[in-house]
Amino acid sequence: MIFGPNGFIGKRFMNEFDNSTPSKADIADKESVIKDLEDCKPDCVINCAGKTGRPNVDWCEDNKLETMRANVEGPLILLDECMKRNIYFVHLSTGCVYTGDNGGKGFSEDDPPNFTGSFYSRTKGWSDQIMHDFPVLNLRLRMPLCDERDPRNLIMKLSKYQNVLDVENSITYVPDLIRIAKTLIEKKKIGTYNIINPGPISPYRIMQLYKEIVDPAHEFNRMTLEELPNHTKAGRSNCTLNTDKLKNEGIELEDAESVVIKALNAYKLNT
Ligand SMILES: NC(=O)c1ccc[n+]([C@@H]2O[C@H](COP(=O)([O-])OP(=O)(O)OC[C@H]3O[C@@H](n4cnc5c(N)ncnc54)[C@H](OP(=O)(O)O)[C@@H]3O)[C@@H](O)[C@H]2O)c1
Repeated sequence: MIFGPNGFIGKRFMNEFDNSTPSKADIADKESVIKDLEDCKPDCVINCAGKTGRPNVDWCEDNKLETMRANVEGPLILLDECMKRNIYFVHLSTGCVYTGDNGGKGFSEDDPPNFTGSFYSRTKGWSDQIMHDFPVLNLRLRMPLCDERDPRNLIMKLSKYQNVLDVENSITYVPDLIRIAKTLIEKKKIGTYNIINPGPISPYRIMQLYKEIVDPAHEFNRMTLEELPNHTKAGRSNCTLNTDKLKNEGIELEDAESVVIKALNAYKLNT
């Protein structure tokens, strides 16, 4: 059963698991969650619901109660109700709970969050740390990108910005996220996993490649980290995650620049 089935990531999980049932429940409404779990009796629940903000996470600063219900209360209700029924629970978390590159090592699954600059990141960090303490598969993604012309795709988002940040960040190629999540789910893995493509890349570099591959006429400016607060209400996490845990389990992901090039070539054809 998939909660948040109509979101950017939820839709893609729905497509991948053709035996999945979508839930329309508000995850912070305990009775609705219980009803769906009792009606469907799923063996696995994937929580893709959450408030990410429109047009961006600045929305969460002005809508704190709604954000907390979706990003903290709802995940806790799902955790509790799944544990009571012995249902395998998969939660979507984020790497946006860190800032920096941890001295070049990247942040591992066991490093505590160190970024509190936005309400979105604080709520995601709280639920991430609770999930980390329970037998849950807690998947951390970052700046998801894919081949499709979807306004939630990092490529499309960046192509609308006039000023683009030149700071290296971990990114997640969505087809890799779905494929690896499926592998981990089939193995009934629990614990926190960073699912990012190694070798961080800056949004500015992504747009340089966009100009080369998709649209040579595209114009944009380079923005430094110091200039970023002039353009956003809340702080933004810029960070690199470590993928040693996945590698040690025999799962390797293609590097970030290669998947960006692959995604841009496909994106160009997807008009
Ligand atoms: N996209 C990213 O950059 C990113 C990066 C890292 C991690 N993540 C995490 O991945 C998960 C999915 O993100 P996404 O990109 O797919 O976001 P999304 O496109 O905004 O989808 C989230 C879905 O959850 C629904 N939702 C919100 N509050 C809900 C509630 N209380 N009960 C039930 N459904 C609710 C939303 O519906 P409404 O539109 O009606 O609110 C939306 O359909 C989130 O937990 C997010 O924090 C996303």
